[in-house]
Amino acid sequence: MSVGIDRLAAYVPAYVLPMDALAAARNVPLEKLTHGLGVREMAIPPPCEDVVTLAANAGARLLRAAEVDPGEIGLLLVATETAVDHAKPVGIFVHDLLGIGVHCRVFELKHACYAGTAALMTAVDWVRAGRGGRRRALVIAADVARYELGSPGEPTQGAGAVAMLVQHDPRALQVSEESGVWASNVYDFWRPLGRREALVDGKYSIECYLDALAGAFGAYRSRERPALEPDEALVDRLAYCLYHVPFPKMAAKAHRRLVELDWRAAGVRWREVEPRLDEAAAASYDAQVAPTIEAVARVGNTYTASLWLCLASLLERTGRPLGGRRLGLFSYGSGSCAEYFTGVVPGSVGAVADGGLARLLAARTTIDIDEYERCIGAADAGGEPPASFAGDFVFRGVRNDRREYGRVAAEAAA
Ligand code: CAA
Repeated sequence: MSVGIDRLAAYVPAYVLPMDALAAARNVPLEKLTHGLGVREMAIPPPCEDVVTLAANAGARLLRAAEVDPGEIGLLLVATETAVDHAKPVGIFVHDLLGIGVHCRVFELKHACYAGTAALMTAVDWVRAGRGGRRRALVIAADVARYELGSPGEPTQGAGAVAMLVQHDPRALQVSEESGVWASNVYDFWRPLGRREALVDGKYSIECYLDALAGAFGAYRSRERPALEPDEALVDRLAYCLYHVPFPKMAAKAHRRLVELDWRAAGVRWREVEPRLDEAAAASYDAQVAPTIEAVARVGNTYTASLWLCLASLLERTGRPLGGRRLGLFSYGSGSCAEYFTGVVPGSVGAVADGGLARLLAARTTIDIDEYERCIGAADAGGEPPASFAGDFVFRGVRNDRREYGRVAAEAAA
């Protein structure tokens, strides 16, 4: 029985800050940000957008594109590490804004950037447990990544959401039944209660990510079916390798680690490739990873949504020729939990590949450093949408400790 993602829709905030503006303001060489980290632009929410509206706007775009009646959704999962309340989940605001019916299980998931994958796997299991019934789940990963202004983490901020429709006979990605997981209690990245900006031990977080990748990938590799021949590499069975991408250079570090592990485990293959390892790993990166990170370089870190933004971007960029190809996917959440799994893109992908992401990216308003800092300071203020706003819903502000949301005029929504 094939279960997975039938369709994805992404949503990114209305504002974008180019890296040259940040580099000049912080007196950092631009090449450090564009080459050292691989970031080109950072998505910035205006005061009228928060994690709830990002999630709801992605969900609305998905339900509209898929022509799904919200009443059909029996499970709504919102994954985020940008919670707006200690008790009330982001998902219940989204449930209301999208007009989903009362007979729906709704909850929020948290495990840093891993929660989007945790939500997807939970939804896939829920659909499978329906034993052939027409269960449909809506999974939304949404986040606003924030670090201290002027800190090394600042250029790796971003914001966005990806909504996924999970069901039988999916057209975008059939999720593998096997996966490899890895969990370990580490303090690499965290956000104590009451803080808006994350705390991070940056260099250590990169080591933790790579250790978790080795652990999860090793666990998956031994479960691969049909089993790998002694000289066979798993990456040779994959068309593309997708990663959680906090900044694009991290995907290069991750892929370098993964192919080395994979090739080392494949005897003859390793002896062939070892003398030219850097060159072979770089060629594999160019072919199997670079095409997946275009959107991330223009949006920044979206935490739980990052891996799924890569998938949405790859589907939109490649479309129908992806049909029948197999993908490897790696999810990492600090703290930490990681999962490696694979998926096959069905032949019918051409009908669902266009998520409108390129149009959203092109429609954004470019802001300067003063406007960026004003947005950071006004993050809980709410407000009116800017002219370039492409969403359905806005955040109006907090009154009496309650968050208020509204729908923009129908003609303003893209
Ligand atoms: N031109 C070109 N490249 C340059 C340069 C220049 N002038 N100056 C420096 N660089 C390169 C460096 O060589 C380095 O590249 P390598 O890693 O390939 O050696 C790169 O730019 C970064 O420079 P630094 O090593 O000086 O690092 P930094 O102090 O700027 O910090 C960071 C980088 C640790 C990633 C920091 O941005 C950070 O803390 N980010 C947030 C944490 C994070 O994203 N961690 C990732 C793993 S955890 C995770 O994935 C979960 C999550 O989403 C947070």
